[in-house]
Amino acid sequence: MIPFNKPCNTGKEAAAVQEAMQQEKLAGNGPFGKKCVDWLEEHLGCEKAILTPSCTAALEMTALLTQVGEGDEVIMPSYTFVSTANAYALRGAHIRFVDVDPATMNVDPDLVEAAVTDRTKVIVVVHYAGVACDMDRMMDLAKRNSLWVVEDAAQGVMSTYKEKPLGTIGHMGTFSFHETKNYTSGGEGGALIVNDPTLTERAEILQEKGTDRSLFMQGMVDKYTWRDIGSSYLLSELNAAYLSVQLEHAGQINADRLHTWTAYYEGLLPLMEAGKISGPHVPEECEQNAHMFYIKTRDKQERSDLIDYLKENGVMSVTHYVPLHSAHAGQKYGKFIGKDNYTTAESERLLRLPLYYGIEKEDVAHGIKTITDFYQK
Ligand SMILES: Cc1ncc(COP(=O)(O)O)c(C=O)c1O
Repeated sequence: MIPFNKPCNTGKEAAAVQEAMQQEKLAGNGPFGKKCVDWLEEHLGCEKAILTPSCTAALEMTALLTQVGEGDEVIMPSYTFVSTANAYALRGAHIRFVDVDPATMNVDPDLVEAAVTDRTKVIVVVHYAGVACDMDRMMDLAKRNSLWVVEDAAQGVMSTYKEKPLGTIGHMGTFSFHETKNYTSGGEGGALIVNDPTLTERAEILQEKGTDRSLFMQGMVDKYTWRDIGSSYLLSELNAAYLSVQLEHAGQINADRLHTWTAYYEGLLPLMEAGKISGPHVPEECEQNAHMFYIKTRDKQERSDLIDYLKENGVMSVTHYVPLHSAHAGQKYGKFIGKDNYTTAESERLLRLPLYYGIEKEDVAHGIKTITDFYQK
């Protein structure tokens, strides 16, 4: 069976993990952690990068940093992972879900604008499949209404919008280094990208259980003490060691994934042109990172038949998010604003194909042929 995902492994990670073990410094923000942070800050040109145990944790930090609470509203797509909403629901905020643009599955900027009220505090955009949202519109809207913009760039490492790396355009951005993402820290991991310098000091305090330990480590205070609320939002050195290798090879990993993505696109283009399926759309101002290759079938039933047919032929394909507003907790903690024209219908048609670093060319060709055969049956 051709799997949907294989965690990225360049073959050099084990040696780095071994080295981390030998240095006998395994807690967070050690030498390998610093190496990853330096890479991120240099490549992104951001104010501050902070490694976290997951993108979920980084999103929780954004909720703490924006100081949302009871009575505040946060706007986001319903078509996202639970963590985007959970982070803010945990602080007592009310979630306002909006519909997506079916071309990209990203939030529709007009609908975000229509959902703003005088209680809105944060807009969380999700760059679906590593393809950027309309960030100019988002930042302009935020400026006019004094709102925070958080980019959930869980899938967006190495993607850009108007040549700016995703995660660096809003006030903050979050990355995931989960095993399903383009770069992994060995299973679970993430990063918080801070772009607004007024948030940096507090972000470092929140990461270290609410203490000024990071100032202590820099020799700037002689004892570290409890300064604020916080938690343990650190990534262990073993995970940072694994990640450091992946970041060093980011160009090579990105090129390999883009090659696969293009092979899928070109191979399935005849079916798209014949109107049998739809493919992904990448707006001109976006450079994407081939995080995902998805197609859309005619409807849910056809998708289910195609999943079965692919499986019978040795190809694993998977669906994606169940819209949050349709779930029990989504109804409890949020509300869909406006009409659900696309979120549910499009999510039921969307199917993701195997895409991982090092996938064999023949396996991609087999997937394309199987889908083509399905539509010729
Ligand atoms: C958009 C989005 N945000 C957040 C997350 C959570 O990432 P993590 O597993 O690193 O916590 C995911 C996970 O897939 C995601 O797709």
